[in-house]
Amino acid sequence: MTFPETRLRRLRTTPALRRLVAETRLHPAELVLPMFVREGVSEPLPLGSMPGILQHSIDSLRRAANEAAEAGVGGVMLFGVPEVRDANGSAACRADGILNVATEAVAAEVGDAIVVQTDLCLDEFTDHGHCGVLDANGAVDNDATLVIYREMALAQARAGSQVLGLSGMMDGQVAAVREALDGEGFHDTAIMAYSAKYASAFYGPFREAVDSQLTGDRRSYQLDPGNRREGLREAITDIEEGADIVMVKPAMSYLDVLADVAAASDVPVWAYQVSGEYSMIEAAAAHGWIDRNRAIHESLVGIKRAGADAILTYWATEVAGWLK
Ligand code: PBG
Repeated sequence: MTFPETRLRRLRTTPALRRLVAETRLHPAELVLPMFVREGVSEPLPLGSMPGILQHSIDSLRRAANEAAEAGVGGVMLFGVPEVRDANGSAACRADGILNVATEAVAAEVGDAIVVQTDLCLDEFTDHGHCGVLDANGAVDNDATLVIYREMALAQARAGSQVLGLSGMMDGQVAAVREALDGEGFHDTAIMAYSAKYASAFYGPFREAVDSQLTGDRRSYQLDPGNRREGLREAITDIEEGADIVMVKPAMSYLDVLADVAAASDVPVWAYQVSGEYSMIEAAAAHGWIDRNRAIHESLVGIKRAGADAILTYWATEVAGWLK
């Protein structure tokens, strides 16, 4: 009878030893909290599709941003839910549009303690729900959309957003927004590009969160879930256009893409643990099918292990509290 020469279990024997040899650790500063703010409400509204997540009023948004900052969370990412929508998403570019008003409020409240970031995309603001404006045939018009993104970027920079999250998947959006920002002296406003953003079923719960008006899908601009090489190409293109940070989204079903981008990128690489990833774990835990907190922790460790420098997650504040 022969015994193993190599005993890998040796380093797993005690909690202290396991802690000492852990390769991947989470830190609150690498977590970013996505938040929804709804125009015209005085109280926050719960979301059926995302238990525990709210559509905030301006007041409750301020409070929640404070809580995130106190927990040591690295940043917040704001999404606006407007009362009135139109074909061009014009509320996105107005200083009195809900997202810009909320950005100003949050930046004034916690702008020194936490990085205030904004979603730069038209889907919450258009009456057809697409991420850009439509041409005469109803197709999303890439170049006409870039003209509006430039405006939207300036409105968000003026409101005090420090990092603009370009999530619309239009070609050339990073270069266009960079040029617009620099043209108005906003050299220090950073661009976080949702570079490898896949046309995913896991955005389902988010559609309720932002009252999405979309009827079709986004497959003519978001990536095909099977395309790994193309995800990397998107990230490299965005870096060449001047992205300060690139992102892969969703996270858990795209860890290979995340690892590819992390290996190739010379800018920070983030991942977005999206609404469906959140709701799946919450739903399974509510049924008693999985251990909620362990599943959350493991999901985040997996995303970080694959190469994420920071993670957008709806659990940011709660997890930051565990890590303290
Ligand atoms: C588009 C946008 C979406 C999400 C973030 N930004 C929805 C989509 O592309 O359909 C999804 C986030 C989530 O599911 O948590 N502005």
